[in-house]
Amino acid sequence: MAVQQANKMADLQIKFLLVLTCIGTLFIYSSVKADPRLWLPEGSQTGVAGAPPTEFLIEGQALEGQSLLGKLLFNSPSLLGEKAVRIGLSCNSCHPNGHVNTSFYISGLSGDPGTIDLSNSFWRKGTEDGKFNPIPIPSLRNISKTAPYGSQISLPSLPAFTRHVIVDEFDGPPPSAQTMKALISYMNLLAKETSMDMSRQEKTIPLRRVFELLLPALQSQDTKQLDSRIFLIKEELGRRVTPENRTRLEKKILQIKNIQENVVTDPEAAKAAYDILVYRAALN
Ligand code: HEC
Repeated sequence: MAVQQANKMADLQIKFLLVLTCIGTLFIYSSVKADPRLWLPEGSQTGVAGAPPTEFLIEGQALEGQSLLGKLLFNSPSLLGEKAVRIGLSCNSCHPNGHVNTSFYISGLSGDPGTIDLSNSFWRKGTEDGKFNPIPIPSLRNISKTAPYGSQISLPSLPAFTRHVIVDEFDGPPPSAQTMKALISYMNLLAKETSMDMSRQEKTIPLRRVFELLLPALQSQDTKQLDSRIFLIKEELGRRVTPENRTRLEKKILQIKNIQENVVTDPEAAKAAYDILVYRAALN
């Protein structure tokens, strides 16, 4: 009996160790795999070489609320499919600030820099057309006025084409109505070169305005919406981080966590944490 029990224990211990080893290996594996460069053929360049193009917006319009949320989505790989997430690719990688990334290049999928073959199984199984046919990445400046959209297929509306890009081309999850509304409201502001130069009006969007995106979800205690906005805001903070502001931004992330943890159990504490977050962001 005792022997049997001892055997059982030893068995359990081995199983436990095995599970631990698996988790450990998975952890190492995933952290190695998470490096986007490892997923791209050598010689590829998905970032913008040099200064990003200017963001031109329709006169008198600031990025806030829906359009600001749309810009964060435009910058988020999570909007697109698994492949895009692994290589850190967002709408903004190809259409930086709503214009063109003329240095965009993926070995085997691009011809000249700034072109890309989207009908390739690299992006989604079933889209392979068996041809190497990279096409130039177009600018999205003034996009609200240039219907119909696409050169391979032609769709009459911007929402329809955007949905097609996300789901059919990049194998992303079908976007929610809210996601679409925000994304389209951002793209609708993209204007011709002769319009307002966004960077002349404000160099970077004030963080206060970014944090204010949390308020509707906080008020309605919509945890799903809150979580997805927090995710986008964390990505934005990640893009803004420098050695100088790192500690300050990390503190903001802790405050945001405080909101997230309290939103249902202690809404007053969550609102207080939100007020501090926005107030401090307005100061610096
Ligand atoms: C890997 C590069 C790449 C990424 C990422 C990308 N696009 Fe594009 N986009 C293109 C190319 C190439 C075309 C041209 C397609 C065509 O002509 O059919 C295009 C076309 C478009 C058009 C139509 C332009 C026109 O005038 O007809 C819209 C709108 C658009 N993209 C929006 C988006 C949005 C929104 C995202 C993110 C959800 C996105 N794109 C992500 C490369 C990209």
